[in-house]
Amino acid sequence: MNTIGIDFGTSNTTVAWLKEGESKPSVVVYPENQGGKIPSLLLKMTNGWSAGFEADMNMQAIHYASKDDIVNIQSRFVQGLKRYLNAEAVEFYDDQEYSHLDLLIEYFKYVLDRSEANCDNAAKLVFSYPIGFQDSNIKLIHSAFERLGFHDIECIKEPLAAVYGYELENTIDEGEGILVFDYGGGTTDVCYVQKRGGNLITPIEPNGNLHCGGLDVDKALFKHFHKQILREHKVDVTEGISNLFLSRACRILKEKFSNHADTHRVPCLILSEGKSINYTLQLTRDAFNTIIYNKVCEAVRTAESVVAKARQNNYPIDKVLLIGGSSRIDLVHERLENLIPHAQICSCGTQDVAVVLGNAAKDIPRAYSECRDENEEKEEIVNEQEGQISSKEPPRKRVNVIYV
Ligand SMILES: Nc1ncnc2c1ncn2[C@@H]1O[C@H](COP(=O)(O)OP(=O)(O)OP(=O)(O)O)[C@@H](O)[C@H]1O
Ligand SMILES: [Mg+2]
Repeated sequence: MNTIGIDFGTSNTTVAWLKEGESKPSVVVYPENQGGKIPSLLLKMTNGWSAGFEADMNMQAIHYASKDDIVNIQSRFVQGLKRYLNAEAVEFYDDQEYSHLDLLIEYFKYVLDRSEANCDNAAKLVFSYPIGFQDSNIKLIHSAFERLGFHDIECIKEPLAAVYGYELENTIDEGEGILVFDYGGGTTDVCYVQKRGGNLITPIEPNGNLHCGGLDVDKALFKHFHKQILREHKVDVTEGISNLFLSRACRILKEKFSNHADTHRVPCLILSEGKSINYTLQLTRDAFNTIIYNKVCEAVRTAESVVAKARQNNYPIDKVLLIGGSSRIDLVHERLENLIPHAQICSCGTQDVAVVLGNAAKDIPRAYSECRDENEEKEEIVNEQEGQISSKEPPRKRVNVIYV
């Protein structure tokens, strides 16, 4: 049975495929970007939905549209759906009602169509979800894939899938402790794994922040330039149609800072009440770091409780595995180095696809076991003893327990 893995991200979606009998999955690559990422976007057109690359192209064409068309297109755009997914919500496009299940079905239909040539006869589907994701949202994604014809569906936590994906290409030594730090477009996930007795175990409860990602870094930059444009040109971009242009320019500027130069510039068209301003966003690295500092610290704080528990228990943190597009930000490395000074911080080249590779590889036999937080286990035993005397050792699940 062939397996398809899907990592539905706030910004991008990736797909991988494991052919029956093979030991490694492959990431599906698309000609549009010569890579594996499909933008997680939907745009309602008069003749139906456009999604992914097409929705992105239509959005870029907005720069050449008339003012009325821009307003119209903006109101038909679905971006970052994963972050505000809600089983109860309905949205209206062209006076038609759409539940979030409807939107997911439209988007996943596109993703599966675009990937079909690579992943034919995939009978099983594995998707991933972030730490703390509501059960109702996991069910919603599950239902969308069911409605698209899949009956054998499983799911897995994103940072755990990342370790599976990492392990496909890398060896984890006996005793080695790895902290997975997944900083994506909308969420931050942290998980600790250690190799013990040949098994990969997660002895500490993972931690996640569902409202902390690259989008929030973009928003901090937006706020900065909004004030600057207001001061210099007396134009409030939050009220006009330039909102989307500036958001996009802020994202591009942020991504430029992963290159070595110390000053970066991005042009941005600002339209307001008949005025058209060719504005240039410009920052030095120091100014950039000051603006995004709080947002990056918030992401790194997600790791603090996991790191503290590892230290309490004397578990080693030998390596920090960087996953997710936002972990490319230099300041993230710096803050993580500060938190865990002796760990090796690495991206290992699979930053963008480790999660989806792990999804597709979920059924490859591996020595893996889930352990609950060892401190919590001890507390449970104490509580148990208060009610009834028990001399049992804490139950430890160590052999091939599937963690979903
Ligand atoms: N070179 C870069 N420097 C800084 N940020 C980057 C870079 N490349 C991508 N990003 C940011 O990474 C984010 C997308 O990352 P990714 O594709 O891992 O997110 P996602 O999987 O869609 O989101 P999530 O897992 O949070 O749901 C975007 O905010 C993007 O701007
Ligand atoms: Mg992600």
